[in-house]
Amino acid sequence: MNISFEGKVVVVTGAAHGFGRTIAQGFASRGARVHACDVNMAGLEETVKLCGEKTTAHVLDVGNRTDVQALVPTFGEVDILVNNAGGVRGQVGRPIEEISESDWQTIFDVNLSGAFFMAQAVAPAMKNRKAGRIINISSGAGLGISLTGIQAYASAKAGQIGLTRQLAHELGPWGITVNNVAPGFVRSNPTTERQWDAMGEEGQARLLQNIALKRLGLPEDIAAMVMFFASDYAGWISGQVISVDGGK
Ligand SMILES: NC(=O)c1ccc[n+]([C@@H]2O[C@H](COP(=O)([O-])OP(=O)(O)OC[C@H]3O[C@@H](n4cnc5c(N)ncnc54)[C@H](O)[C@@H]3O)[C@@H](O)[C@H]2O)c1
Repeated sequence: MNISFEGKVVVVTGAAHGFGRTIAQGFASRGARVHACDVNMAGLEETVKLCGEKTTAHVLDVGNRTDVQALVPTFGEVDILVNNAGGVRGQVGRPIEEISESDWQTIFDVNLSGAFFMAQAVAPAMKNRKAGRIINISSGAGLGISLTGIQAYASAKAGQIGLTRQLAHELGPWGITVNNVAPGFVRSNPTTERQWDAMGEEGQARLLQNIALKRLGLPEDIAAMVMFFASDYAGWISGQVISVDGGK
């Protein structure tokens, strides 16, 4: 499939690392002007080096609505928004009694509120032009359970899937599609490396055995689905969640 994003303006959140960096590279290499947003400036600089001169870095905490509202309109008319920023914020699974309010809230801020605030910021211009693509990155945890037992992560990702469906219906009359990619386990960051090590050889073998394609995914597998949803090939697809997990 030969997809071009020449002339398109794309915003990718969580672009300093992992999936977000690979997604930004995917759009940039197909001609898009990419606005790479993250809280990690050093990582963003590396992303920009890999993407090239049409990519710009912006330090942004997507959970801060004031900052989102101040920055995003400076991008001009955004064609494609990828809400990828997220994760477990360094947390591990613990019993419910041990979870503080801020442990709970911080995961919601980035995985759910951030996606909402970013969509809110791009929607007015997309509605004016009667076109736009919003792609949210959830997780298998949002469709089932968090394998590491993080309550807020499973809940926030499930909420983000609900937000995807709701916005698909609200924004559909303006030709805007809203879809969701639910990745399976990918060794893409220090947290997933720790999780992989903690499984031990037996756990790793079991995880692979339960994947139809018998291999772990790569950030490129996730980016490919994001680009499909953003492309002209997906013009009549909205409100959908696609698991990109090698088959379960
Ligand atoms: N790796 C996996 O196995 C896996 C599986 C399912 C879903 N996911 C989801 O995919 C997305 C990307 O995961 P990844 O593995 O590439 O993680 P990653 O940790 O490599 O990248 C996440 C990026 O988000 C940024 N970020 C965190 N909080 C932010 C905030 N408030 N504002 C802006 N940026 C912020 C981080 O700095 C980081 O660069 C996340 O939403 C994650 O929940 C990952």
